[in-house]
Amino acid sequence: MGAGVIELENVSYGYGGGELLSDVSVQLQPGSFHFLTGPSGAGKTTLLKLCYGALLASSGRISAFGQDIARLDRDQMALLRRRIGVVHQDCRFLDHMTLAENVALPLMVSGRTDESRRADLAELLTWVGLGSRMDALPPELSGGERQRAALARAVILSPDVVLADEPTGNVDWEMSQRLMQLLIELNRMGKTVVIATHDLSLIRAAKSHVQARVLRISQRRLHLAGADL
Ligand SMILES: Nc1ncnc2c1ncn2[C@@H]1O[C@H](COP(=O)(O)OP(=O)(O)OP(=O)(O)O)[C@@H](O)[C@H]1O
Ligand SMILES: [Mg+2]
Repeated sequence: MGAGVIELENVSYGYGGGELLSDVSVQLQPGSFHFLTGPSGAGKTTLLKLCYGALLASSGRISAFGQDIARLDRDQMALLRRRIGVVHQDCRFLDHMTLAENVALPLMVSGRTDESRRADLAELLTWVGLGSRMDALPPELSGGERQRAALARAVILSPDVVLADEPTGNVDWEMSQRLMQLLIELNRMGKTVVIATHDLSLIRAAKSHVQARVLRISQRRLHLAGADL
């Protein structure tokens, strides 16, 4: 086994109607930055779910932090989920709770509600530019505000890895650049980042700010894309 934080070895996956991903092998090195691209329905979200253990491979092996994730017990899986922050494509919130409460939810669940954590929460919301929207309810937020809240929630437990699934879906170019800036900052802080997106212009724009590798899913396989995006 290599030194990747997440490693896939000859992984295949299908939901039942034939294989969606075949023989996928990739290593995500600590501190690396990857884009994951491919057409709608290619399997980007599926591949991310395999990486954080929401789905188990039909064949092959997936390891995270040196452990085979198919062999983790419940507690180990819970620990893994804390080390991997996920920005979900649909970024759902609990509508009756404030933005701050929604972002703090992973803290509550892990029983970490002390004062220093609350200070972290305020700092984090300020960092994503939502310091003045802490008491807003999710239905009152714009698309860009929701995306930033989803990013804050994904990193509140200080994960080592951030998997962001279309983090700039439904926002304008300026907001997408702002979100990218936040993700690049997280990477500079040492986090391993993977961003699934079908937006090639986003990838092109980011490449002048960060050393990123581009993985592309096509015809069930994962390819390392060249510089010709
Ligand atoms: N739970 C499921 N059960 C059955 N099929 C599924 C399930 N989830 C996804 N699929 C199918 O698997 C394929 C890949 O889906 P996935 O969401 O991984 O694609 P994607 O690349 O993320 O697409 P998009 O760019 O639209 O987000 C699609 O054809 C989808 O319909
Ligand atoms: Mg998707």
